[in-house]
Amino acid sequence: MYTKTPPMGWNSWNTFGPQPTDSLVRETADAMVSLGYLDAGYDYVIIDDGWMLPDRDENGLFVADPEKFPYGIRALADYVHSKGLKFGIYSCAGTRTCARYPGSFDHDFSDARQFAQWHVDYLKYDFCNFPSTANCRQRYQTMSMALRACGRDIYFAACNWGLHSPELWMRSAGVNSYRSTGDIMDNFTSAATIAQSQLDLLHCSAAPCFNDMDMLTVGMFGKGHVGLNDSGESVDVARLEQEYVTQFALWACMGSALIIGADIRAMSPSMRSLLQNKELIAINQDEECRSPYMVSREGARFCFLKHLSDHTVALVYANLSDEQDEVDCIFADFGLPYTSGIKLKLHDILSGEEAGMFTDHCPLEIPAHGCRVFKASFVTA
Ligand code: GLA
Repeated sequence: MYTKTPPMGWNSWNTFGPQPTDSLVRETADAMVSLGYLDAGYDYVIIDDGWMLPDRDENGLFVADPEKFPYGIRALADYVHSKGLKFGIYSCAGTRTCARYPGSFDHDFSDARQFAQWHVDYLKYDFCNFPSTANCRQRYQTMSMALRACGRDIYFAACNWGLHSPELWMRSAGVNSYRSTGDIMDNFTSAATIAQSQLDLLHCSAAPCFNDMDMLTVGMFGKGHVGLNDSGESVDVARLEQEYVTQFALWACMGSALIIGADIRAMSPSMRSLLQNKELIAINQDEECRSPYMVSREGARFCFLKHLSDHTVALVYANLSDEQDEVDCIFADFGLPYTSGIKLKLHDILSGEEAGMFTDHCPLEIPAHGCRVFKASFVTA
């Protein structure tokens, strides 16, 4: 499948774990339309692990769990399509999925055909219970062949958790996005660790094969399957909101897949407007899909820019450390010396305010776990 920009959508795992159901997916699809997510660009609805019975049928085919999906998968996919959305499903390159349901090992071609018959549009392909004698690259290549031969255009989302340097070969294996890290948890350390682990690996992420930094935890506030933190402290909503802003801004500006993991039906208004921030989404979906250019980096404090197709740049400041600190961005470090006579006009995307004109550099105090994102346009003095 040819995909020009990172995928956007919703996946059941982060909040519902191995308990996706027909009614949950229908209600989520309804909410994605009525609450503006589809209009904002989120068009995939994806059921993760736990949708099938523990055993295949006598013909070796998957059987959807009839209690969770009483009308079958095809009827559900049809419903999702009737809303203008696309339907995604989950399987695994190993013999069993991570929740120990049947995997696609040795079943790739018949599974892909079954998905095509069900009108599936997206396959997340996991890596649990992988035989030690099997070859990772070949397994993803095999499912890629199976999807190409199945008679339907199906987006291929590989999920081998960043093992074996996927950024180097997933593109050649026909994949559309590759999970580049282990599983995200609903706490800032997890999101910050994932973001920092990818800062040097983004040059390989471009159409039609994108880095997937895992489903967002934005808006979960500890509710769901991937835990808030293990300290047992009560939820500090203001702090978590700030941390979710940082997470979403980084995922968007680093060009990651944007797959929401929170319960769309119960999202707070502020998190909904964050997830639907048009300017952040436009940076993520920019048609040139350029990877970030690192301007400065000192431990967990960094500043990068991303060239955009309208001849502006996104300027991103992040402080993932636990202390407020200054992050400086010296324009000469990204090719704009004082002698150029060019000023940068900065529009603050998160506050919506105009931040003014800058020459030479723009140092900013960034709170702990915080970030600032500017759209910068060039002004000739
Ligand atoms: C792995 C994946 C997760 C999720 C679970 C399902 O851990 O990385 O994203 O799909 O399996 O069991």
